Amino acid sequence: MSQKALVLEKPKSPFVLSSIPIPKPGAGEVQVKVLACGLNPVDTAVQARDIIPNVKYPTILGLDVAGDVEEVGEGVEEYVKGDRVFFSADYSMAHGGLQQYTLKSVSDPDIGKIPPHISYNEAATIPLTFATAVIPLLSVNPIGAGLNPTFDSKVNFDGEAALVIGGGTSVGQFAIQIYKYLGFSTIITYASLKHSDYLKSLGATHVIDRTQVSISTLFDSVKTITSLPIKNVYVASIMVEGAMEAGYACLAHGGQMATASPAPPKPDDAEATGRKIYGVFASVNIEPNKEFGKELWKNLPRLVKEGIIKPNRIEMLTGLTAVPDALPRFMNGGVSGVKLIVNPQDTV
Ligand SMILES: NC(=O)c1ccc[n+]([C@@H]2O[C@H](COP(=O)([O-])OP(=O)(O)OC[C@H]3O[C@@H](n4cnc5c(N)ncnc54)[C@H](OP(=O)(O)O)[C@@H]3O)[C@@H](O)[C@H]2O)c1
Repeated sequence: MSQKALVLEKPKSPFVLSSIPIPKPGAGEVQVKVLACGLNPVDTAVQARDIIPNVKYPTILGLDVAGDVEEVGEGVEEYVKGDRVFFSADYSMAHGGLQQYTLKSVSDPDIGKIPPHISYNEAATIPLTFATAVIPLLSVNPIGAGLNPTFDSKVNFDGEAALVIGGGTSVGQFAIQIYKYLGFSTIITYASLKHSDYLKSLGATHVIDRTQVSISTLFDSVKTITSLPIKNVYVASIMVEGAMEAGYACLAHGGQMATASPAPPKPDDAEATGRKIYGVFASVNIEPNKEFGKELWKNLPRLVKEGIIKPNRIEMLTGLTAVPDALPRFMNGGVSGVKLIVNPQDTV
C-alpha cells in the first residue's frame, strides 16, 4: 500500500511530493493515520539550512501530529485501532509528520490520547510548542526554573508578576497559560495589540503593544504597569533582536528567565545578580528532559481536558502541496498568532 508524503531527498533540497510505502509498525510502535500536522519555524530552517545535526536523508519533516491509530505493533497494550492520539514526531522517513501515515513508539513519553472535545487540528498545535514553554519553566533546576516539576496543584504564585516577551507566538501563548496555571496575579506580555483580547482570554493581564513600544524601552513600560519585582520572565520571540536583553533587563535580581532558545546568552553579571537563564531543546526523548517528559505527558491530556491549557488558534493549509510555499512565512513575519496546520489526507 502506498501513500503521499512530502520528502526531502537531501540537505537543502526542494520538497518532493512522493508516493511511498506506508510504514509498518514494529514492536512497540503504532501506525497512525495523520489527520493534522503542525508546522514549526524549525521545519523551515531544516529545509533551507539543514540546521539539525544527524538528520538522515531522505527524510520527512513535521513534528506535531494528531491522528487515528490504524495498526498496533507487537506488544502494544496502551493503544488500540481507532484511538485518537497526538504526539511529537521525529525527522525520519518512518516517523515524520508530513505524510499520510506515520509511526510512533509508545515507549516514548510524548504521546497521549486527545481529549474528546479537542479536534485533531487543535491537538496538533500542542506538542512541540507546549514543551518549549513548559520545560524551561517547570522542569527542575538546572534544566529549568523548577516552578512546578510535578504539576502539583498546590503550587501557587499568587501576588507575583511574570513577563512573556512574544506572547503572540505559539510558544508564548503557552507560556502565558502556564503562568496563569501557576497562579501568577500579574502576567504582562509584549505582543501586537490586535491579539490583546485573545491573549487576555489565555491569562495575560496586560498587553504591551509591540508595534508602539520598542523592545529597548520595554523595561520602562513594564514599570508603568507594576511596581512588583519581575522574578519570572519567558522569552518566546528569540529571533527578535534585543528580546533576550530586554527580558534580562526586566528581570529582578534573583529572578529566573526561561527562553525558547537552545543556547541562551550568559550575561557576565548573571552570577553576581543571582539572575538565572534557561534554554531548551524541546524534545523529551533526549536527556536531560526524559524524566520531566514523562511527568509532562502524564499531565498534558488532563490539563487540556480541563481547559487549563488551550490549543493555539489555527490556519489550515490545503494538503501537503501547500507546505513548501507556507514554510518561508515563518521567516518573513507571515505567521501571526496562529499555528499552521495541514491535513495530509487532503493532498490531491
Ligand atoms: N528550542 C526549541 O526546541 C524550540 C522549539 C520550538 C520553537 N522554538 C523557537 O521558538 C520561537 C517561537 O516559535 P513559534 O512557533 O511560537 O513562533 P511563531 O508562532 O511562528 O511566531 C510568530 C509570532 O511572532 C511574533 N513576533 C514577531 N516579531 C515580534 C516582536 N518583535 N515582538 C514580539 N512578538 C513578535 C508575531 O507577532 P505578530 O502576530 O504581532 O506579528 C507572530 O505572532 C521560534 O524562534 C522557534 O524557532 C524553539
